[in-house]
Amino acid sequence: MTISVQDLLARNRAWSEKERERDPAFFSRLVAQQHPEFMWIGCSDSRVPANEIIGLAPGEVFVHRNVANVVVHSDLNCLSTVQYAVDVLQVKHILIVGHYGCGGVKAAMQDSRMGLVDNWLRHVQDVRDRYRGWLREIEDFDQRADRLCELNVIEQTLNVCETTVMRDAWARGQQVVVHGWMYSLADGMVRELGATIERDDDAIDVYEAAVAGIMRRG
Ligand code: CO
Repeated sequence: MTISVQDLLARNRAWSEKERERDPAFFSRLVAQQHPEFMWIGCSDSRVPANEIIGLAPGEVFVHRNVANVVVHSDLNCLSTVQYAVDVLQVKHILIVGHYGCGGVKAAMQDSRMGLVDNWLRHVQDVRDRYRGWLREIEDFDQRADRLCELNVIEQTLNVCETTVMRDAWARGQQVVVHGWMYSLADGMVRELGATIERDDDAIDVYEAAVAGIMRRG
């Protein structure tokens, strides 16, 4: 079935009406302010919609998405989003959510040339190269890519913890927990990667334990 842009506008009208019927004050409450307790950093992949996966309504999760859910220390867009979430919105949790079968991670794995995006995926290749020896042992390509998807999430989880935003927040006693998650396209389930970081001083230990956990499972 082909969906036209006119269809999208019709669907939007229907959705808006349905929401107002369900809860007449829904939109007026959201206009007043947003109070999300969660920030989501995930892949741009169309099959990984943040709100739906974790059953949250508009207003409940603050979202940043990019190809292969990468957190780069010089990416003003991502850093600004994290800063606004932590300092202004005072979110309590930051979820770094990768997904199995990620096209960006697969491309990084096999050095595919797709254009400008190759430069962005270089960050995933840095993770690949760090664990090159271990990854090389995994014969099946999809399995190897899925392990890299997991390692990438753990790496990005540490990257969030190492931002000045998170360090300053923790230093002043603000409670923010950073979580590393994987989403499965096959069954819609999220699994935790054991990369749950609550404090500056145990970030590296948790990171190393999470990586060791992946390697133990193989
Ligand atoms: Co992806």
